[in-house]
Amino acid sequence: MSGTERVLSGIQPTAGSFQLGNYLGAVRHWVSLQDTHDAFYMIVDLHSITVEQDPVELRANTLLAYAQLLAAGIDSDRATLFIQSQVPEHAQLGWVMQCITGFGEASRMTQFKDKSSRGGTDHASVGLFTYPILQAADILLYQADGVPVGEDQRQHLELTRDLAQRFNTRYGKTFTVPKPLIVKDTAKILDLQDPTSKMSKSLPTGAVFLLDEPRVITKKLKSAVTDSETEVRFDPVNKPGVSNLLTILATFTDRDVEQVAADYDGRGYGALKGDTAEAVVEFAGPFAERVRELESDPAELHRLMSAGSAKARVIAAQTLALTYDQLGLVAAEF
Ligand code: TYM
Repeated sequence: MSGTERVLSGIQPTAGSFQLGNYLGAVRHWVSLQDTHDAFYMIVDLHSITVEQDPVELRANTLLAYAQLLAAGIDSDRATLFIQSQVPEHAQLGWVMQCITGFGEASRMTQFKDKSSRGGTDHASVGLFTYPILQAADILLYQADGVPVGEDQRQHLELTRDLAQRFNTRYGKTFTVPKPLIVKDTAKILDLQDPTSKMSKSLPTGAVFLLDEPRVITKKLKSAVTDSETEVRFDPVNKPGVSNLLTILATFTDRDVEQVAADYDGRGYGALKGDTAEAVVEFAGPFAERVRELESDPAELHRLMSAGSAKARVIAAQTLALTYDQLGLVAAEF
């Protein structure tokens, strides 16, 4: 069943596998939202080329990312599941959005600061700088009401809202102003080796990849950094490592985090780590199997991608035509 509210979100195809944070913070919610909303989900390949990609790997990872979304439970009949670069309107609206964004405003985006500081701003591309503006275009093209993402995307969503409001004020009502849909409990899954920062595919030692071998997943969770106490307690401020494990276990077993914590009263960290590893492997094993099955039929994946992108394009083209018209760009008559 599709409701009238629309949600849209995207994920980059930059790693061979989604990491646990992608799944718990975003994709898992996408799966439930497709039952209640008109859902649009995409692989943001144009975002991934803001840093250099190997073409062979990018192509393979895009297919793999698409297969992972299907394996996670996105249904290409209920949701519109597509590839960003197959809908040219993203780049076109991206340009328009760049033209109404202030340079200072773009400079304040913290993800750019973080990412560029690793390699130095001289090595960062202009695309990396304007990345959040393309993201705004992604969202506004579909007149999305809500955007299900993890906490790290909040600032990009605020920019999107500002740009939508600015355009509407200058040129007349054109865009829906979207709301961030951030589920607090799982909004920030932490790095297993450094539980003061978020889990990220760019820091693979502290990240669990869903397509990792079960023994690798188990090893990573069992060697998660905790603290020097022994008491299992859900206390994200003082015990971020333990609380992160509790969040992961509670989510995979569909239980309340405080109840899960109570189960480990007097049992120590070893038991918690072992059970968390087991719960993740129980999900990741069948997930990896479904991904392999889907991957074995690339022609079918290509067919689904193209069908999804064609569906997305109908809406995207309408919004772009309206935007150009509002701006005073003269439409061609061919
Ligand atoms: P990306 O590919 O980095 O991540 C995909 C989604 O996973 C979430 N996420 C996490 N959630 C909780 N804990 C974590 N440790 C964690 N790591 C990642 C992210 O918040 C995200 O929701 N800019 C986006 C892609 C994008 C997009 C869009 C999203 C492009 N256009 C339009 C929404 C709408 C990104 O790089 O996500």
